[in-house]
Amino acid sequence: MSPPGPAVSAHGLCYGYAGREVLHDVSVELEYGAVTAFAGPSGSGKSTLVELLAGVHVPLRGEVRLVGSVSLVVQRPAAPETLPLTVHDTVSMGTWGRRIARREARGVVAEMIGAVGLDGLESRSLTELSGGQRQRALLAQALASRADIVLMDEPDAGLDSARREHIHELPADQAARRGVAVGCASHDDGFVATADQVIRLEAGHATTTAT
Ligand SMILES: Nc1ncnc2c1ncn2[C@@H]1O[C@H](COP(=O)(O)OP(=O)(O)OP(=O)(O)O)[C@@H](O)[C@H]1O
Ligand SMILES: [Mg+2]
Repeated sequence: MSPPGPAVSAHGLCYGYAGREVLHDVSVELEYGAVTAFAGPSGSGKSTLVELLAGVHVPLRGEVRLVGSVSLVVQRPAAPETLPLTVHDTVSMGTWGRRIARREARGVVAEMIGAVGLDGLESRSLTELSGGQRQRALLAQALASRADIVLMDEPDAGLDSARREHIHELPADQAARRGVAVGCASHDDGFVATADQVIRLEAGHATTTAT
């Protein structure tokens, strides 16, 4: 059962790079069992906000409070592109160090590979996958961690329309079935359609709409 109150609460977040502030006084709350879409044009601050919530960056001002474990699917993965890991290994890594029994882990890994549509590619190396396939392997890894809070940055990048639609349904499915708090950043309004709330960013300023 989820604890009472929001999974993520952030207040007055400000962040910048090289002395230039790109995120201004942003406050958001993510609820358990709900999907939050982070929308807005390229450069509006979606990745910066998601990374602040996940603890990748420390805010210049403001604070982030997480109630539960968090897993992040980054927009620009660095290491996995060059490591000769298979899809199965990559997704299995998600279960390491988590509260998942070893015999259960095997089922979780197979389930998540299926959920992102990578069945049949389990023994393929990440270096031999397309960008969209690689992103889906990392998404499956994040989901396999059974984290309480899952943050995804453009998990639908590089996918054709049928695959995009499928990926757009995953967060709502995870929120409904497992009660996780999910946040998804994307240019595509596909996540907006399934979201419980939309945080729209415009030049580092956020507006929140409940749907
Ligand atoms: N490492 C960095 N160094 C300097 N500036 C950065 C860095 N990362 C992001 N920025 C700047 O911060 C602003 C917000 O970038 P961010 O990546 O958060 O936007 P985004 O909404 O995720 O864009 P996209 O949709 O293209 O992924 C932009 O002006 C960008 O140029
Ligand atoms: Mg981004």
